[in-house]
Amino acid sequence: MAARATTEVRPGPELSIVVPTFNERDNVAVLIGRLASCLGNRSWEVIFVDDDSPDGTAHAVREHAALDSRVRCLKRIGRRGLSSACVEGMLATSAPYIAVIDADLQHDETLLPQMLDALKQDGTDIVVASRYAPGGGVGDWDERRALMSRLAVRLSRLVVPGELTDPMSGFFMMRRAVLDDSVYKLSAIGFKILADIFASHRPPLRFKELAYRFRVRHAGESKLDSVTVWDYAMLLLDKLVGRWIPVRFIGFSIVGAAGVAVHFAVLTLVFQSLHYSFATGQAVATFGAMSFNYAVNNVLTYRDMRLRGVQWLRGWASFVLACSIGGFANLGVASTIFAQGRGWLLAAIAGILVGAVWNYAVTMMTTWGRPRK
Ligand code: GDD
Ligand code: MN
Repeated sequence: MAARATTEVRPGPELSIVVPTFNERDNVAVLIGRLASCLGNRSWEVIFVDDDSPDGTAHAVREHAALDSRVRCLKRIGRRGLSSACVEGMLATSAPYIAVIDADLQHDETLLPQMLDALKQDGTDIVVASRYAPGGGVGDWDERRALMSRLAVRLSRLVVPGELTDPMSGFFMMRRAVLDDSVYKLSAIGFKILADIFASHRPPLRFKELAYRFRVRHAGESKLDSVTVWDYAMLLLDKLVGRWIPVRFIGFSIVGAAGVAVHFAVLTLVFQSLHYSFATGQAVATFGAMSFNYAVNNVLTYRDMRLRGVQWLRGWASFVLACSIGGFANLGVASTIFAQGRGWLLAAIAGILVGAVWNYAVTMMTTWGRPRK
């Protein structure tokens, strides 16, 4: 008998679990196994969003995906960031319910079925797994990390509702409408995607919390570092004033102000202590401050597009060139205003402002914005 071609149509999953990963190769198999066992015969998929991890996480995910269609891999190149990875993973699914969980098994995945059941009841937009709800805990954190976390929670009150006990949680599940309604307003900066969603969604989200104990990381290392604090500050600023001022410009200006201090330090050293001419001192200081600004902006303001290796050098050259032109623009504007007799202070401020906006706009497009392979 001739074989009959069958086209089996299978509906998409009901629940999509988004897992941001950076160097989590050794956690992939264990997490998939645990998801499969706790979700039983529910309809689910897992999307790993990997930022081109050097340890080959994406490859490990694809090996599983080849055998199990519930496993998917989304690989991003030349990008970094937990929040933006989560957003892109969420956008890559059509599932009506979307969860986010870390890859390192610190989150208690056995809560997932309960979270899904809670969401299916009317009146809940999002279910948050909380370490600070009664019955929860932060596990083996040292005093410093616990303090930082409490401080971050307190600061978050500026933008998220006070009743939420764990706005810093990286483990939650929501209806897809929550994403669709807030995605254009999300900042997607840094680590705190949940706080971002709560702060962006109007009307305020109806939420439920489920307590859990934060576990010890399974394999690999934490990606949390001191720059996470900067990212968090930028997220809060973006939520508070981002409508009027681009938050990257604020970051760029803060770094610029620090650059002025570097300028004076170098000038003092070269001109005062080493007794070179003022012009030499000023030239070396300008060059030093530009290089400082470039290096710091690259790790703070443009952390998500950080340049490395040869690209770092190319970026540095384009930054110095762009800022040199910005310097002339500053001088031109300031001299013109000064010549009009409006006072030196106003002239200087106007010059600095024009130079800063120029430097910001041009380096955004040339130094960091140029498409890279
Ligand atoms: N794609 C991508 N890109 N993933 C990332 C990046 C990145 O730049 N940085 C971190 N991740 C992934 C990690 O691989 C891990 O799966 C997850 O995000 C959390 O990173 P950890 O380094 O394990 O963070 P943590 O344990 O210190 O903090 C986590 O838990 C807290 C409590 O829920 C984070 O989720 C925090 O946001 C959260 O507050
Ligand atoms: Mn972790």
